[in-house]
Amino acid sequence: MKKFLALALALVMIFALCACGQQAAPAAAPAQEAAPAAEAAPAAPEAKTYKVGVSIYQYTDNFMTLYRQEIENYFKTLETDTVKYEITMVDGKNDMAEQTNQVDNFITQGMDVIILNLVQTSSAEAVVDKIVAAGIPLVLINREPAAENMTNNPTVCYVGADARQSGTFQGEIVRDLPDNGDINGDGKVSYIMIEGDPENSDAQYRTEFSVKALTDAGIEVECLDDQVGNWDQTKGQELCANALAKFGDKVEVVFCNNDGMALGAKAAIDAAGRKVGTDIYLLGVDALPEAVELIKNGEMTGTVLNDHIGQSHTAVDVAIKALNGEALEDYYWVDYLKVDEAYAKANY
Ligand code: BGC
Repeated sequence: MKKFLALALALVMIFALCACGQQAAPAAAPAQEAAPAAEAAPAAPEAKTYKVGVSIYQYTDNFMTLYRQEIENYFKTLETDTVKYEITMVDGKNDMAEQTNQVDNFITQGMDVIILNLVQTSSAEAVVDKIVAAGIPLVLINREPAAENMTNNPTVCYVGADARQSGTFQGEIVRDLPDNGDINGDGKVSYIMIEGDPENSDAQYRTEFSVKALTDAGIEVECLDDQVGNWDQTKGQELCANALAKFGDKVEVVFCNNDGMALGAKAAIDAAGRKVGTDIYLLGVDALPEAVELIKNGEMTGTVLNDHIGQSHTAVDVAIKALNGEALEDYYWVDYLKVDEAYAKANY
């Protein structure tokens, strides 16, 4: 009897378990209903949109205008059906506090990558630390931070050109003139220097290496005047006009750290009744279209191509590498190119 009872109990339990299993079945039904939606997904792949934050130190800068326009153009050319780039580009207005706010906003907005043209390289550390702490890859451009501010971090890099090369090329253009820049034949090249932002290594190196190329070639030099024009055309004109008024015919060479200031200097040279190539030489850096035009016509002595196309494309390419999770090197360099009259006529 006990055996019969045990068997009956066992049968009841098996039945109960089966019944539970059957009850569970309806729960699986929604998963079956969801299946058609999952099958449809591959037919319409979602485009991935990456958010890119770009802050430029100052929109009115002639060179950085070409550079930033090319960043936008180039990103567009790299878009596909499935990959889009949403660029938020802002003007740092040459104000570090403003730019720091912009970086804070980029972090809050959850940018996927940041491209930064610093207002002040001395503030690099604080800004880089913030961005790294937020886990956002960072591509610094155009204004090289001090080596100790480069973090040796695979998500941070600098894209630029070695400014020593641009200074050397300026000096070599003068060295290679028939009179080596010594128009009045007094055995020395008397020059004025119009500098960019003195905090900027581009300005420091161009100032130093342009003159060094002459002294390395055994040419004696005399600095009549060395002033800060902050990369600005109007300031360049004003400084050159002052120097010409003060030193007159003694000025044989006008070195400008960029073409913007050289274009200003050209206006001052014209106003003073001087003639480039005859009684004065004028050098810039960047190869802005207006400067190249003057060089072709013999109205400016030379410039150095600061390759905004190469630099902007490199910056975008490495930003995309970072978006794809690839490790970045610390530095990416783009070469300068010497642009004298012969080169300008042959290549532009
Ligand atoms: C360019 C200048 C520009 C500066 C801005 C330099 O590399 O030659 O024209 O004003 O960058 O940082």
